[in-house]
Amino acid sequence: MTSPPHPSTTSTTTPPHTSTTSTTNPHLQPNPHPSSFNPSTTTFLSPLSSKALSRNRLHRYYDSEDKSIPRLPPSYALNPNASSTNAILQQIIVQFVWNKVPIDAKEVQESFEFYLRTRKRLLRKTNATKDKTIVVKDYCAGHGLTGLLFLCCNPKLASTSSMRLQSIDIKVPPAHAEIVESLEQVCPWIRGKHEFLIADINDDYVDNNNNNNNDDYVNNSNNNNDDSYTITLALHACGSLTDAVIAKATTSSATSSSASATSRLALMPCCPPPSNSLQIPLGIKRLYGNREASDIERCYVLKAKGYHVDFTSIPKEITVMNRIIIAERD
Ligand SMILES: C[S@@+](CC[C@H](N)C(=O)[O-])C[C@H]1O[C@@H](n2cnc3c(N)ncnc32)[C@H](O)[C@@H]1O
Repeated sequence: MTSPPHPSTTSTTTPPHTSTTSTTNPHLQPNPHPSSFNPSTTTFLSPLSSKALSRNRLHRYYDSEDKSIPRLPPSYALNPNASSTNAILQQIIVQFVWNKVPIDAKEVQESFEFYLRTRKRLLRKTNATKDKTIVVKDYCAGHGLTGLLFLCCNPKLASTSSMRLQSIDIKVPPAHAEIVESLEQVCPWIRGKHEFLIADINDDYVDNNNNNNNDDYVNNSNNNNDDSYTITLALHACGSLTDAVIAKATTSSATSSSASATSRLALMPCCPPPSNSLQIPLGIKRLYGNREASDIERCYVLKAKGYHVDFTSIPKEITVMNRIIIAERD
């Protein structure tokens, strides 16, 4: 009689975490919606859809190849009432290329795809909440493009002052000012609707939203009050920074005394926090690895705070750290 293989030897023949498991998973729909979770997705939604972008400046990528996006004159301002999202994104590319903005093509793709995959869920019900100011908070914002896209691509909300953006980071990268300048030329409705707050997410910093000294920044005093509608973003906030963002976002919305406060989060984590900081059982960490386990733990943390939690993803060609946690609490 042949004895059965030792359980630990099975993993060498059938690794549990290879990408093939996702394609054969019977629970994955054969033709999922483009915004649904698919870790192997290769479908691009944005006009910057090449799968072969290297870590190259966007303008160098366009200089080196003949691209289909037309080059229009600089300072080409779009009409806020007659510009589709696609037209806005295309014109942003043109402006970045023209102005030689120092940003990598892949980072532009990442921000575009992130925006296009999350916007519907994050901005759901905005028509029913006309009296609320939508505050977008982009934590660990880096160059800040992702948060700025929410203003650029929502001209009606941004031009009526009912949407504004706060980018938060410990430092302002040099590219930020050039990105803002180009975007304001294309989308003039974003002027005065955004600020960059230099702060450490782990600190109890003063949130200037209710006491702003920047004259250009339209300060709407009803932020964080009972009628608040807060969208929290964090792209590749390393390790436990994503968890700090969850804590910050859920604490400030939890302090609102009204059930009418709306809080939405879209988080695309990168490296996992240290294993010993995870509360999730050891068996789950061993079965799925720390990266998967940390995202599972984050789902439970958010669920315990009353959020509906789901996943979506951007194409893996842009980054293998492509999972987005979406959490909604109305
Ligand atoms: C990997 S980058 C991601 C930048 C941007 N979100 C993106 O996707 O391109 C991480 C960012 O986190 C910022 N950061 C690091 N520690 C931080 C902290 N304690 N508080 C706030 N931001 C922090 C860094 O300055 C950096 O810009």
